[in-house]
Amino acid sequence: MDHFSYQDGNLYCEAVTVAAIAQQVGTPCYVYSRATLTDHYARFAKAFAALDPLICYSIKSSANLAVCRALAECGAGMDLVSGGELHRARLAGVDPKRCVYAGVGKTDAEISLALEAEVGWFNIESEGEFENISRIAARMNRRCQAALRVNPDVDPQTHRYTTTGKKETKFGVDLDRARAFFDTYGGDRHCALTGIHLHIGSPVYSAKPYVQSTTKVLRLIDELAARGYRIDMLDLGGGFGADYVTDQAPLASEYARELVPLLADRVKDGLKIILEPGRTITANAGVLLLRVLYVKKSGTKTFAICDGGMNVLIRPSHYGAFHFIWPCRVAREHVPRQRRQQMDLPGLAPVDVVGPICETGDFLAIDRLLPPVNRGDLLAVFSSGAYGMVMASRYNSMPLPAEVMVTGDTAMLVRRRESYDDLTAHEQEPEVVLNIKRSNPKPGP
Ligand code: LLP
Repeated sequence: MDHFSYQDGNLYCEAVTVAAIAQQVGTPCYVYSRATLTDHYARFAKAFAALDPLICYSIKSSANLAVCRALAECGAGMDLVSGGELHRARLAGVDPKRCVYAGVGKTDAEISLALEAEVGWFNIESEGEFENISRIAARMNRRCQAALRVNPDVDPQTHRYTTTGKKETKFGVDLDRARAFFDTYGGDRHCALTGIHLHIGSPVYSAKPYVQSTTKVLRLIDELAARGYRIDMLDLGGGFGADYVTDQAPLASEYARELVPLLADRVKDGLKIILEPGRTITANAGVLLLRVLYVKKSGTKTFAICDGGMNVLIRPSHYGAFHFIWPCRVAREHVPRQRRQQMDLPGLAPVDVVGPICETGDFLAIDRLLPPVNRGDLLAVFSSGAYGMVMASRYNSMPLPAEVMVTGDTAMLVRRRESYDDLTAHEQEPEVVLNIKRSNPKPGP
């Protein structure tokens, strides 16, 4: 599953104890395993090899350049949603032609940047956006390729905040409007509408919603062909599950088993398949290390107050997400064989694992059965490689954590911990940017 394991009661990332990393760089700290990243990528690529897909790693899940570079070296293209992500992809050495660019709110500046960089496909989310991209491309005398993001109205059975393929979400256009979309824009000279994009939600723990949505869009592709619009690219998006709990997520091969037969003949006929996995590659490739500052009792509750909480990992408080949490050094009887929501080992007691932030909603786990926890202990929050550091904030003026990449027996600092000076680095002596009296001498009535 991943390269985080206990040996003699100590948690290792590959060949390094995470305690030694915490000793060197302090906490809170994200630790990534390069072997896990590349294994997960290889497994995903192998599962879908029959479709010869372009795998566009979804940068939003974990954006550190060391992560992007590791995956770029495996051959990944990238799934982007902003100018900032395009910047990262290029720094990681990824050819923008191997990138797809999605997102409902692309600005003019971002569109110009992506046109200049010649990104592979714009994944377009609305009529207004298509017109804007075409207009900017015409002004810049450029041509680009685009896929229409279709909203298939399929329920991915996931958290409502990360459900994207239902009609009432802001993403894509519905199937009926998709037909009209091609009739209006299918012949555009600057923006060639030759693809279809789907992303139904994340995480999706069954192949079924993918099959339902793919079946719907294949029908759409046939209808479009009958009307003279040739679709040569189908992007199925991301959302493939990760093992937050041991054996929770289907293997890549299980999604592929359902999807490959649906698509194999189309691929033979020239349809290019794109996949946009994020968390299935990155989630279990990272842990978050926290130090217990205080153990506090209050009524019937025991709180383990750590040096990071919702500011470094917002998923538990924002989505009610489960992350397995365990001390990095444990007695033999407490070595976890599996990562479960309720662990069945002797001598465990319920603890609320919380952070230092001044909100009651600042928690990582509530009533979690843990081995005895004391001040100074190091805790690992597992499966934090996806949507961890990328969603971290400086709330309460907490500097952002360090990030470390482990390869075998070597741990490398790939983002230094922020300092207090970093917190205020963009603030400056007040400078006049607008003076109403000076710039508008005759105000209206
Ligand atoms: N493609 C598109 C167009 C997406 O919007 C996303 C995720 C992905 C691919 C990658 O999804 P993945 O394979 O990583 O599940 N912050 C939330 C997840 C938000 C997902 C947003 N879009 C979380 O922590 O669960």
